[in-house]
Amino acid sequence: MVMPDIDDVGKNVFYRNFQQYVELNTDLGKLKHISPVNDMMMVQTLCTILDALLIEHAQALNQLEEEPKKIAYETLFIFACMWGFGGSIGGGQDDEKDQKEFNSFWRSVTKIKFPEAGYAFDYFCDPIKSSWQQWQNQVVPYGVKEDMTFTKIYVGTLHTTRLRYLLDCHVVRCKPVLFIGNSGTGKTAVIKDYLASTKAEKVAHRTISFNSFTTSYSLQKSIETMVEKKSGKTYGSATNKVLIYFIDDMNMPFVDHYGTQSPISLLNYIVDYGSIFNREQLEERKFLQDLLFLGALNPKAGSFIIDSRLQRHFSTFTMFTPDGLTIKYIYGQILLGHFTGFQDSSFDKVTEQIIEGTIFIFNKILRDVRFSPSARKFFYQFNLRDLSKISEGIMQSQGANYRGAGGKVYRLWAHECKRVIEDRLISQEDIT
Ligand SMILES: Nc1ncnc2c1ncn2[C@@H]1O[C@H](COP(=O)(O)OP(=O)(O)OP(=O)(O)O)[C@@H](O)[C@H]1O
Ligand SMILES: [Mg+2]
Repeated sequence: MVMPDIDDVGKNVFYRNFQQYVELNTDLGKLKHISPVNDMMMVQTLCTILDALLIEHAQALNQLEEEPKKIAYETLFIFACMWGFGGSIGGGQDDEKDQKEFNSFWRSVTKIKFPEAGYAFDYFCDPIKSSWQQWQNQVVPYGVKEDMTFTKIYVGTLHTTRLRYLLDCHVVRCKPVLFIGNSGTGKTAVIKDYLASTKAEKVAHRTISFNSFTTSYSLQKSIETMVEKKSGKTYGSATNKVLIYFIDDMNMPFVDHYGTQSPISLLNYIVDYGSIFNREQLEERKFLQDLLFLGALNPKAGSFIIDSRLQRHFSTFTMFTPDGLTIKYIYGQILLGHFTGFQDSSFDKVTEQIIEGTIFIFNKILRDVRFSPSARKFFYQFNLRDLSKISEGIMQSQGANYRGAGGKVYRLWAHECKRVIEDRLISQEDIT
């Protein structure tokens, strides 16, 4: 692994920054996190991001004079510290409130000020200009690809762009990452899209979805399918690739009589010792190389939390439920891409109105207590997945059937909303 080069200027700045922002900052310990994380885990995340930033910007930093260099180092530190300590905040009733609180706290402690607009999270550092740049400008516009199945459609947003960047910082340093967020917030979508974009000559990846039947044995078999014998007892990639295992729904395995989850314990063992025993011949131990684990879990499902002995290895990031504007952007782009293919001017207004209508219904459902999950209505769980289903249904439409009559699509939309949402409601009172 490449280690970042740090000169004396950097050492002094970081020594001071660690004191100022971490050791003396007692308020950091009061932040509320989406799952239990301790100080060391947050400092570990900070260091991983800082290392990755120093490697990425090594050339640019070397060209700077002493004073601008000091500012550049501090800017990088503030960015890494913000995500190290603030990346896993959340878990309150209101995502926006959690972000706002951290934002005002972080803005009040940093010496290099963030621009006024938005949250501190919305900015990344540019060491050359020694300034903050907006993530919004880095969002890759959605491009429609012919013959793409709906499940593969992915629209980059501000939040996913910065999470992908953080993911990349960790993959570069071969450090595990865990995304935690409620159901349907896009955890699986972001990681899968990131893995699909990795270079096949450098990275090989596999997704392992945990469920309550997953055992340590089945996990071991899944892991072993990707590793090959390198030399002696060493196993890994024969072509020196990084082998990334994406463990989805990590907290789902059955909790046994002793309060442990066997796949979680095996994962912890592998990350701790970098080895695994042959189940058929226990005296044979295989040493594993270049394995990296990425994970996702929903803190309201399965065992809620995972063993902290495993989680301490991971950098934890919260996946917040996208806000109204982001949802509008994602599904607006998807439907716009679809209707643009019809080359029919009668569809110009349709997309916008369909999106507005869907979001109106979605918000109403989310805010109205009648639609909150309860013991009798435990399946009243509405999230992005439902919007995806409505969009997927609408995208079955073909231009030839709607020539010059874009308005007909409203009927299709109403039908999809009824099938996806109304059919799940259990009483006439809820429907009306
Ligand atoms: N940026 C995005 N672009 C396109 N579709 C998205 C995006 N984010 C989420 N989705 C869609 O939202 C739905 C839910 O996303 P996903 O399955 O990733 O959620 P999740 O957080 O993994 O949920 P769970 O905890 O239930 O597994 C999917 O249909 C996915 O395609
Ligand atoms: Mg998922």
